[in-house]
Amino acid sequence: MKAAVFYEHNAPLSVEDIQIDAPKRTEVLVKIAASGVCHSDLSVMNGSIPFPPPPAVLGHEGAGVVEEVGADVTAVKPGDHVILSWRPSCSRCGYCVTGRPQLCQTGNLELFQGYLPDGTSRLHKGDTEIRHFTGVSSFAEYAVVPDSGVVKIRSDVPFEAAALVGCGVMTGVGAAINTAKVEPGTSVVVIGCGGVGLNTVQGAVLAGAEKIIAVDLNTAKLELATQFGATHRVNPQDGDPVDQVLSLTDGLGADYAFEVIGRSDTAVQAYNSIRPGGTAVVVGVAKPDDMLTIPTVSLLQEKTLKGSIYGSARPSVDMPRLLDLYVQGKLKLDELVSRRIGLEDINAAFDWMERGEVARSVIMY
Ligand SMILES: NC(=O)c1ccc[n+]([C@@H]2O[C@H](COP(=O)([O-])OP(=O)(O)OC[C@H]3O[C@@H](n4cnc5c(N)ncnc54)[C@H](O)[C@@H]3O)[C@@H](O)[C@H]2O)c1
Ligand SMILES: [Zn+2]
Ligand SMILES: [Zn+2]
Repeated sequence: MKAAVFYEHNAPLSVEDIQIDAPKRTEVLVKIAASGVCHSDLSVMNGSIPFPPPPAVLGHEGAGVVEEVGADVTAVKPGDHVILSWRPSCSRCGYCVTGRPQLCQTGNLELFQGYLPDGTSRLHKGDTEIRHFTGVSSFAEYAVVPDSGVVKIRSDVPFEAAALVGCGVMTGVGAAINTAKVEPGTSVVVIGCGGVGLNTVQGAVLAGAEKIIAVDLNTAKLELATQFGATHRVNPQDGDPVDQVLSLTDGLGADYAFEVIGRSDTAVQAYNSIRPGGTAVVVGVAKPDDMLTIPTVSLLQEKTLKGSIYGSARPSVDMPRLLDLYVQGKLKLDELVSRRIGLEDINAAFDWMERGEVARSVIMY
């Protein structure tokens, strides 16, 4: 099958033929139909997100059709349409049974080692083992994934829309709705309005926020954020973004702020943008050595600073719900797709992302 293989940091992916093995007993072979290109893939390529030595097939925002299932798989059957979840879970541990599968530790092997849950890979080129990424690896025509990494979905939605739910939409909307539990009538700041942040904006809209302040250095992204429901725009090039937010929120700050870039300075901006009793949520993935400093005493204003992984997703519940909202016209997914490309154009997609030209590029297989 064709795959875009990550061989070396800070180098283009190589689109070439590799081999994929059959699924084992609890695994599923999926024919990928569409895959979004997320900033986290780029962060692995440039070393910002630590990952074991390549080669590996990246891509973690995919949807497709089940082609074959292992002997013990009951959740899906060949022909089912699925979204691939990059946070597989065990359904038995304390986190899983209390509704927080995003924290299930079984997902760590996929995330940090690049293997399937049994500690091995199904991808290789001749004798050379190729790692998976997050148990998804959607920059390839097929993927073998753990059965807890597939979410069966309705079959009447376009695959590119479904693919985006697999990371950016779930992460962004979920941060607002699941992690922060934004309440109706409140004020929300979203710092960074790319493929994920735009979804935090629309998550805030769904939650009934009254004021939604979009912050981005890129005026085209601020324009898009307005289309997604932001009520105010702040460009840090026009002055300190925190001061601008405070002047839009009675001098006290917003009820909620989200950092959706992956930097400590903007995480501190998010924290400084909230009012006493407010909640700041870090969604962006910062480099491991990027530390942040806040005045300790400011926490006594009952401010909360927390993180959000995968929008605190309960994939099998949340992802079908998001697609239902899309079908009802309450969630914008088509508008997120800036460019549809072939797998051979994948390196251009990373250039467009770095230049801020796209919300999302989507590979169509
Ligand atoms: N927490 C999670 O589970 C999770 C999941 C997916 C992605 N992420 C992370 O979310 C972040 C965003 O991903 P994305 O795909 O939306 O990226 P993106 O490149 O599409 O968007 C980033 C946006 O931030 C803006 N920006 C950059 N620097 C800025 C600054 N100093 N001030 C204001 N705006 C600035 C850019 O103009 C761009 O619009 C990344 O760090 C990614 O790794 C986290
Ligand atoms: Zn992602
Ligand atoms: Zn678990």
